Parts: sequence; C-alpha cells; structure tokens
Amino acid sequence: MARAKIALIGAGNIGGELAALAARKELGDVVLFDIPDKLGLAQGKALDLEQTGSVLGYDAKVTGTSSWDDCAGAEVVIVTAGVPRKPGMSRDDLLSINLKIIRGVGINIKEKCPRAFVIVISNPLDAMVYEMKKVTGFPRERVAGMAGVLDSARFQLFLARALGASQKDVRAMVLGGHGDTMVPAISYCTINGVGVKQLLSKATLDGIVDRTRNGGGEIVKLMGTSAYYAPAAAAIAMAEAYLKDQKRVLPAAAYCDGEYGFRDLYIGLPVVIGAGGVEKIVTIELDGEERAQLEKSAAAVRELVEAAKTL
Ligand code: NAI
Ligand code: 2OP
Repeated sequence: MARAKIALIGAGNIGGELAALAARKELGDVVLFDIPDKLGLAQGKALDLEQTGSVLGYDAKVTGTSSWDDCAGAEVVIVTAGVPRKPGMSRDDLLSINLKIIRGVGINIKEKCPRAFVIVISNPLDAMVYEMKKVTGFPRERVAGMAGVLDSARFQLFLARALGASQKDVRAMVLGGHGDTMVPAISYCTINGVGVKQLLSKATLDGIVDRTRNGGGEIVKLMGTSAYYAPAAAAIAMAEAYLKDQKRVLPAAAYCDGEYGFRDLYIGLPVVIGAGGVEKIVTIELDGEERAQLEKSAAAVRELVEAAKTL
C-alpha cells in the first residue's frame, strides 16, 4: 500500500512541529507548504526532518514546497496558514488577516486535495473552520477544527498539578468555542473515574477553569508568540485517529446541524473521529451552568462568523 500523504499548509512554528510528529509516528509522507517567500524555511525544515529520520530511525519523505501540485491527493490536510497572536492581541483580532488567507488556501485544497480530511488550526478557530467548509464545500465529516484537544490538555495538566496526580490519570473535556468563553466541563472531569468535585474545592476548580480559559494567552505573554508543541500534538492526535480509524472520542470543532440545538455553526463538542472523519457528534448531558456557558460560547462564535461574512 502506498503511504498516506499529509499536507501541512503553513511551515511556521506549528507546521514544523506537525511535520516532526507526523514523520516520527510514520503516519505517512509529509508535504510542508508555505508561501513563496518562505520556501526556504519549508525546504530547510523538511531536509532537517529527513536527516532526523537517520538518527531516530523513521521512514518518511518530507518535502518543503510552495507549489500546491506537491500537495495534490493528500489524505489529510492540516492548516496553520496565517498569523499567530502577538502580546495584547485577541484571537478575534486575527479575523480579517487570516480570513483572506483561509479563503485562498481553501480554494486550493478543494482543487488539489478533493478527498482530504481537513483539520483547521488557524485562529480565530471556529470562524476559520466555518470558512474552510464554506469555501471547499466538503461534507461536514471532512472538515474539523482543532482546539478542544489542546484546551483539554491544558485543563488536564492544571488539574493533575493541583491533585499531585499523573496527567495520564486525568480525563477532562473542554467544549465550546476556542476563546474566552470556552467551557471546561467539570461534570465530566475525572481522575481514574473519580469526579474531581470530590477531590478539589470549588475555589481551586474555579482557578483552574480560569487558567485554562487563558491558557493560550499565558503562553503568548511568555514567548511573544503562541504555543506550538501542544497544538501540534493535538492536531496529530486527530489526524492519527482518522488515518488509523481509531474511533477516538475527542473534543473538536464540528459542524452542527441540529446537534445540541445548534444549526449552521462550528463549535467544540465531543466527536468520534475514525476513517469516516468526524463520524459522529456525541450528545452528552450538561448541567445547567455548563449548558448556559455553552450557549454563551455559541453566541460569541456566531458573532464572529457574522463579522466574517461582512469581510
Ligand atoms: P507561524 O507564524 O509560525 O506560522 C504560520 C505560517 O503560515 C507562516 O510560516 C506563514 O508564512 C504561513 N502562511 C501565511 N499565509 C499563508 C498561505 N496563504 N499559505 C500557506 N502558508 C501561509 O504561526 P503558528 O504559531 O504556526 O500558528 C499558526 C496559526 O495557528 C495562528 O493563526 C495561531 O493563532 C493558530 N493557533 C491555533 C491554536 C488552536 O488551538 N486552534 C493554538 C495555537 C495557535
Ligand atoms: C492557543 O490557544 C493562541 O489559540 C492559541 O495557544
């Protein structure tokens, strides 16, 4: 069987780490694409990663390019094209810049990678993934947004630290939009099956929820640019679930057509990812406060999508 082709659109911080992880996990051959001005960066990272294969012992061809022809026929496309946040910038500030970029990228994906499973990472995430589906016209199963796995990873880490427990034993999900209104779902948060409310005080949990909501901004403040290791790992988990038909239940931005009472909206919900892409949006019961938070988050995402429609 031929190896899968994974096209990474954007060879910046996240793009480079995506390429490294995809190659190391031997998910397929990797194409690292960027604009002509950044061709050297894409080619340099690709060569560096192919040489890494000699040390670590993996088989993956990594190509750096600014030609869409090299992306043709990719099974998976992960999009980080755009600009990241600078200190003081909100994700929404990125809207007008990244919207134009996503529109251009989407047209090329539609033409060159018509059967791909597309994972969007560029911010503001929920509006960008909505635009990607609109431009490509792909079915909703094949266009998903990555945010929930990352936000949940942050939530899980902070919980594990507060509990003095291993991160491996903490399971939690963050739903809603990828922004200040995200919804860390405390009622589904467990340490080896034990609900966290039994183990941590409300004040501690409130502090953790707050830190999770500001988890992206915390790193932007420290580094002057946004996180890239965990975002890349999160998107690779989604790509791997697709390529290996793992049927993983992951929080991801999915297109709602009535689920949770939402229509024509991308928002973070638990989904099953397998060979069919986003095979299912899983409906779970939320408590009153979580439901209200999800509604508020959906309203914020809608506002952003409406703003995008005017641009
Ligand atoms: P970066 O600036 O390091 O890389 C972005 C790359 O996109 C640059 O190399 C740039 O030249 C390229 N690019 C720009 N226009 C392009 C086009 N038309 N076609 C192809 N490539 C193009 O940024 P980084 O750190 O990799 O972040 C990428 C995006 O991901 C940002 O929008 C950031 O806000 C977002 N992000 C989203 C997260 C999420 O959870 N969804 C988490 C972290 C970042
Ligand atoms: C993050 O959450 C800024 O969206 C970016 O790291």
